[in-house]
Amino acid sequence: MIKSERKDLNFQVAKHMAGALKHIADLSEDIQGYKYLDNRDMIDFVDGTENPVSDERAEAVLVSEGSDTEVGGSYLVVQRYVDRQEDWDALATEQQERVVGRTKMDDIELSDEEKPASAHNAKSKVEIDGEEIKMFRQNRPYGNAIEHGTMFVGFAASVSTIETSLSQMIHADENGDYDHLLNFVEAQTGCNYFVPSQRFLDARFEG
Ligand code: HEM
Repeated sequence: MIKSERKDLNFQVAKHMAGALKHIADLSEDIQGYKYLDNRDMIDFVDGTENPVSDERAEAVLVSEGSDTEVGGSYLVVQRYVDRQEDWDALATEQQERVVGRTKMDDIELSDEEKPASAHNAKSKVEIDGEEIKMFRQNRPYGNAIEHGTMFVGFAASVSTIETSLSQMIHADENGDYDHLLNFVEAQTGCNYFVPSQRFLDARFEG
């Protein structure tokens, strides 16, 4: 993920990286995302609000125990979604809010009474023994008026956080509830990666 306000510089970095890696990797997709309004997705809801900050962020993202290869690294999930814009636009704002689990204009979480079990923020939330285990999302909207959607980019200290979140979203629970956001977006690609720590990369580079 190459991130800056300068599209031209992003391209330069991408070009050099693709060149440096061409003997071991094929470049098969290059998606250019951008900040949309006040950090909204193309479905017009603010995205990233519940992301962890400061120390909580490092804890959510960095592997804290395991082998030398793992410690300080991070598990990463990248998925490209296309919005079903017409279906989404056909919903009233209150219906959209029940799909996401937050209000649209001012980005407030719905109360437990208002929020359906199928809401995106209910289904994606991971809890172990009542404690929330966060991931850190760096989603970016991409695309144009013909086709657009979300590049979902999520980092976590444990691969199980990613898998649990996705599994809760996709598989219906005992009451038949799955994540209703999935009725309005379509996953096109998806892959899990491991991001090595800077220390590991530096050691490899020096060697
Ligand atoms: C098209 C795809 C997606 C869109 C448009 C989307 C959008 C959103 C929005 C608007 C929120 C509420 C604001 C916030 O707290 O950031 C949210 C929350 C969240 N999403 Fe997604 N999301 C998408 C896919 C995913 C996927 C694939 C995952 C998991 C692998 C995920 C995990 C989460 C988590 C963990 C939260 C925070 C829940 C909470 O603690 O309240 N999302 N997402």
